[in-house]
This record gives sequence, C-alpha cells and structure tokens, in this order.
Amino acid sequence: MSPAQTELLNTALEAFERASKDRRDPFHMPMLANTDERGQPLLRTIVIREFDASTRRLVFHSDARAPKIAQFQRDPRAALTAYDHPRQLQVRLLGRITVHISDEQSARRWASMQPMSKIGYHEPRDSGIPLNEPFANAVGLLDDACAFAHMAVLEFSFDSIEVLRLQHQGHARLRVHFAETAQAQWLTP
Ligand SMILES: Cc1cc2nc3c(=O)[nH]c(=O)nc-3n(C[C@H](O)[C@H](O)[C@H](O)COP(=O)(O)O)c2cc1C
Repeated sequence: MSPAQTELLNTALEAFERASKDRRDPFHMPMLANTDERGQPLLRTIVIREFDASTRRLVFHSDARAPKIAQFQRDPRAALTAYDHPRQLQVRLLGRITVHISDEQSARRWASMQPMSKIGYHEPRDSGIPLNEPFANAVGLLDDACAFAHMAVLEFSFDSIEVLRLQHQGHARLRVHFAETAQAQWLTP
C-alpha cells in the first residue's frame, strides 16, 4: 500500500474508532444492510458499541427476536455504510455477522449496560408484531435473566472497505480488500 492509500485507510478506521466512543459523531449510527430469504434488500440504522481496527470487528446490539437475527444466522453477509458530512467522508464495509445470544460475550456486555439501555429487552412481545395502537414501553419489568435472553450482540467482521473522500481537486476513492495481505486499489469515483 502506498503512503497515500495507508493515510486514507487509517482516516476511515480512526473515524469508526472515534465514533464508537462518541454519541455525537456522524459515524456513531451507520446503516447496515442485508437481504432476507427472498432476496429483498433490508436496511436499518444501528449504533456502534465497539470498533476494533486491528481485528476489523464492529459490534452492535439488537433484539434477539427480530427477524434479522434468523436472517444473519442463515446468511451472515452484510454491508454497512456511514457518511460524515463535515469531513466529506463516506466509508462502506462488507463482511459477515456472528450472532451472540445468552453466551459469555453477551453476558459481559449486558453487565456493563445502563438500566435505560435494557428497557427494550423487557418488552414481552416479539419484535415487529402488528399493533392496534402506537407502541408504549411495557409497564412492568421482566426479571433480569428473561430480559437478558432477549438481547443479541452482533459482531460484524469486515474483509473489504471502500473509502470515498470528496474533495475539490478530485474525489479520492480507495478500496481495500483484506486477504493474506491488504490489497489496495484507487478507483474512479
Ligand atoms: C438512531 C437509531 C439507532 C438505532 N440503533 C439500533 C441498533 O443498534 N440495533 C438495532 O437492532 N436497531 C436499531 N435501531 C432500529 C433499527 O433501525 C430498526 O428500525 C429496527 O432494528 C427494526 O429493523 P429490522 O426490521 O431490520 O429488524 C435504531 C434506530 C435508530 C433511528
């Protein structure tokens, strides 16, 4: 990789690392896509809980009862994109999702969560069921073990990254594929 390629790649990786610790960062809530069993593309906003550039791993949480969990277990392929307007930087990741439910990793994350962040997991009904009225939080709380069983930790391991930095002199677009070694390629925007 050339110094300019390394600089742009590091800019993208550092942006995710910073965003994982800062709720106000534009990269904190990227969009994650997959396809369902019929090939229908699905896209949703998620919150980055952890990002590790050295292992190319991004962690987020979800309701274990959501249909996307079964979709990831059947086909782990996923795509993620984030855009930082002030920095004029778009990053796209391709990778695979590993689902953790009621295991050591999810227990560790559950123990470090604030009570407020656990409220959704106390909802007794499945995610995405039809309602006659808009949703209101469940009144009572389930016991902690029951709520914990509703929480999924999703680990997105990416092997491809594409960075687009918008700039007046010409947009810089770099794709890096991580195999045995990192293969970097500049692309026309
Ligand atoms: C700001 C914001 C952050 C969100 N963070 C998450 C998240 O971290 N995990 C998650 O599963 N859903 C999150 N959601 C909700 C999803 O975008 C989506 O509406 C929900 O997960 C249902 O999507 P599904 O049908 O793909 O399961 C968030 C929504 C918003 C608006």
